[in-house]
Amino acid sequence: MGARRMIRAAAVALAFGIGSVQSAVQSTGFTVTLTDVNYFLPPQPVASIAVTEQLEAAFSDGPFVPFTVVKSAGEECSASDLSTAVSKYLEEDDVFQPGFLSAIYVKAIGNGTISASQMQFGNISSTVITDNTPGSADIQPGPFFLSATGQVYEAWRLYSDTNGAFTESVYGNKQSEFSVLPAGVLGQHIAFAVPSKLYFERTAEKPLAGVRIGIKDIYDIKGLRTSDGNRAHYWLYGPANATATPVQRLIDAGAQIVGKMITSQFANGEAATADWVDYHEAFNPRGDGYQDTSSSSSGGGAGTAAYAWLDISLGSDTGGSVRNPAQVQGVYGNRPSHGLVGLEHTMPLSPVLDTPGLLARDPNIWAEVAKVMYGPNITFSNNYPSAITTIEWPTTNDTIADGLLLDFLAKVTDFLQANVSTFNITTAWAEGNPTLPPVEEYLNITYPILISQQQYSLFTKQFYADYAAKHDGRRPFIDPVPLYRWAWGQNSTSTVEEAVHNKTDFMAWFNSTVLVPDEVTCSNSLLMYVGTAATTQYRNVYLDSPVAPSGFGIWSVSGFSEVPDMVVPIGEAPYNSTITLHEEYLPVAVDFMAAKGCDGMIFSLIQDLHKAGILKTAKAGYSGVTGGDILFRRDLGM
Ligand SMILES: *[C@@H]1O[C@H](CO)[C@@H](O)[C@H](O)[C@H]1NC(C)=O
Ligand SMILES: *[C@@H]1O[C@H](CO)[C@@H](O)[C@H](O)[C@H]1NC(C)=O
Ligand SMILES: *[C@@H]1O[C@H](CO)[C@@H](O)[C@H](O)[C@H]1NC(C)=O
Ligand SMILES: *[C@@H]1O[C@H](CO)[C@@H](O)[C@H](O)[C@H]1NC(C)=O
Ligand SMILES: *[C@@H]1O[C@H](CO)[C@@H](O)[C@H](O)[C@H]1NC(C)=O
Ligand SMILES: *[C@@H]1O[C@H](CO)[C@@H](O)[C@H](O)[C@H]1NC(C)=O
Ligand SMILES: *[C@@H]1O[C@H](CO)[C@@H](O)[C@H](O)[C@H]1NC(C)=O
Ligand SMILES: *[C@@H]1O[C@H](CO)[C@@H](O)[C@H](O)[C@H]1NC(C)=O
Ligand SMILES: *[C@@H]1O[C@H](CO)[C@@H](O)[C@H](O)[C@H]1NC(C)=O
Ligand SMILES: *[C@@H]1O[C@H](CO)[C@@H](O)[C@H](O)[C@H]1NC(C)=O
Ligand SMILES: *[C@@H]1O[C@H](CO)[C@@H](O)[C@H](O)[C@H]1NC(C)=O
Ligand SMILES: *[C@@H]1O[C@H](CO)[C@@H](O)[C@H](O)[C@H]1NC(C)=O
Repeated sequence: MGARRMIRAAAVALAFGIGSVQSAVQSTGFTVTLTDVNYFLPPQPVASIAVTEQLEAAFSDGPFVPFTVVKSAGEECSASDLSTAVSKYLEEDDVFQPGFLSAIYVKAIGNGTISASQMQFGNISSTVITDNTPGSADIQPGPFFLSATGQVYEAWRLYSDTNGAFTESVYGNKQSEFSVLPAGVLGQHIAFAVPSKLYFERTAEKPLAGVRIGIKDIYDIKGLRTSDGNRAHYWLYGPANATATPVQRLIDAGAQIVGKMITSQFANGEAATADWVDYHEAFNPRGDGYQDTSSSSSGGGAGTAAYAWLDISLGSDTGGSVRNPAQVQGVYGNRPSHGLVGLEHTMPLSPVLDTPGLLARDPNIWAEVAKVMYGPNITFSNNYPSAITTIEWPTTNDTIADGLLLDFLAKVTDFLQANVSTFNITTAWAEGNPTLPPVEEYLNITYPILISQQQYSLFTKQFYADYAAKHDGRRPFIDPVPLYRWAWGQNSTSTVEEAVHNKTDFMAWFNSTVLVPDEVTCSNSLLMYVGTAATTQYRNVYLDSPVAPSGFGIWSVSGFSEVPDMVVPIGEAPYNSTITLHEEYLPVAVDFMAAKGCDGMIFSLIQDLHKAGILKTAKAGYSGVTGGDILFRRDLGM
């Protein structure tokens, strides 16, 4: 740094009185653009290097100089080695770009020598600087910004939350302290900052290093407020003092938390647009862009489906809240076996049914994150059942969706060399439980009783009391759905004990006759049902007033029996949109269920089906099959 500039800065500081200014001002990072791409530079530099005279000239353009770090472990690093490294960076990393190539800093490990001092990449000439000083700063490879004082800052790319999938965007420093990201970009929504993928190396200790994940805003993260989908809740309590167990496991494994994601209020089932009063529902990127995301993990489904820069999302599933958003947005999603990991510091809906589940485009990342999050309670195994039972599977090839479903079932059957039989829960229950009422009656109000009464007693009462104490006896605003459900639960003469009793009966029958544990294949069979067959649910419709979510259906079976229920996207089918007056496409998805505790077996099976080409990695954007820009932001390159 030039001596003249340093002197000027010191004089200014003196004039204002150094002490008070220094203690009050803290950097929250920097934002810059480089060839029209927006970047965030975290406030703490990661290294410092000597600024040579040759380099100093570069600062005439601004306070930061972009540069690229390459690590060379070999004896010699040739120009072609550098070219190979740079091509790899451009291909693998969405943060890196040619703008960082004006200078290449080669950190030689050992006694390596570099043959080149100047290189040409297209129309960019690069100055190559070599550092083989033993013990000099250890910098990860990738893109960086250098300040005029020789401080090295990481490059985090800024993206816009164009689909409104998040409530808050988060910056987590190296000490895993989280704060709100102080940056914004074009797009009428908050901005996200993601670090270069090149900074991370996945190791046994940090198996999720750099994996970018969004967290449903019902999980506490120390240092951040939790909204639970309610504005009054966000402001009533201060930043959380602890982090929810599933999230802590992800952080410990090196995952990169990028933000808190949209949830319907208190994780109750809401439908756009009538219900989403406090926060708007996220936007489903598929098809015409105006289909419901389903809920409650609306943001997790929309964000995972919309953004290639996001790897995975953590949602929660009590009665379908991960599965439904995964189905209608064409991504992988799981409701795990109940009780795999504790839900401390997480908003309860019904602890008897609540589970933490993940939404992902790539089934391999999905499985890796699940392995970390469920820890010792998940076992991956490769011995698969050879019996498949289907529920309400199409038998005739009438629509494109039917064709996809029939084709998928045939391929899975062939892959497993399995027998397929159809199953009808209503008749099987009646045969197995002749003294009990029909299952549709027995379990009709079990779900609404559990969620309304457990949430009211474990959560709502305290929230109301805390709010009233702070606001002169007032009640906070509550969306119509949770307000109705709590009132319905408080009115009912049924109890949680009675609901648990009915659920236990169902589970005992189910785990002894339908999905039965098996020593070799984990589960006696696999149960498959249709998740979605590309049916529309427009978000611009006027809906009826809330009612209790009563009724029994395939959606409630995994909750009552505590078994895993996992969604896989298998394709898409066309429909004529009433919005665009044009043919568009929506996802077709299938659910797999197996005996309790067989999550790892299903994950392995799905990974094997993916390896065999029967399942595909879902794409981000307009279509899960072909990708493409989301309709309204087509050609914007976002
Ligand atoms: C580097 O070279 C020196 C002198 O030749 C030698 O002593 C040292 O072991 C070498 N270091 C490495 C890491 O190869
Ligand atoms: C350098 O090349 C890229 C494409 O290869 C082009 O977009 C850019 O405008 C060029 N820059 C200059 C300064 O010519
Ligand atoms: C965190 O702890 C502080 C101090 O005990 C307390 O005032 C605050 O309400 C706590 N925050 C939450 C979200 O519980
Ligand atoms: C495993 O599951 C049991 C039963 O739900 C739970 O009590 C335990 O905490 C879980 N273990 C871990 C390490 O999460
Ligand atoms: C199951 O059986 C019941 C009673 O016979 C019948 O009403 C229902 O339609 C059947 N469901 C399916 C999917 O076949
Ligand atoms: C369904 O029908 C279509 C069109 O006739 C055909 O291409 C496809 O192979 C059929 N699929 C199955 C599973 O029968
Ligand atoms: C399943 O298929 C095998 C032959 O592949 C047959 O031996 C067996 O009886 C079948 N089992 C059932 C339950 O249909
Ligand atoms: C289920 O409960 C709802 C709400 O109480 C009621 O309207 C409906 O008739 C019940 N259905 C059955 C099959 O019991
Ligand atoms: C439990 O089953 C009984 C007997 O059929 C039924 O009357 C009651 O409504 C059910 N209650 C709940 C909460 O599931
Ligand atoms: C609760 O009971 C009261 C009094 O019977 C009734 O007016 C109200 O509609 C009920 N509310 C719900 C949500 O069932
Ligand atoms: C089957 O369900 C019953 C009732 O909930 C439970 O006690 C039992 O442990 C379950 N068995 C298995 C193998 O999951
Ligand atoms: C859409 O409408 C056109 C014109 O009526 C029709 O030919 C086409 O089959 C329709 N597509 C679908 C998927 O229904």
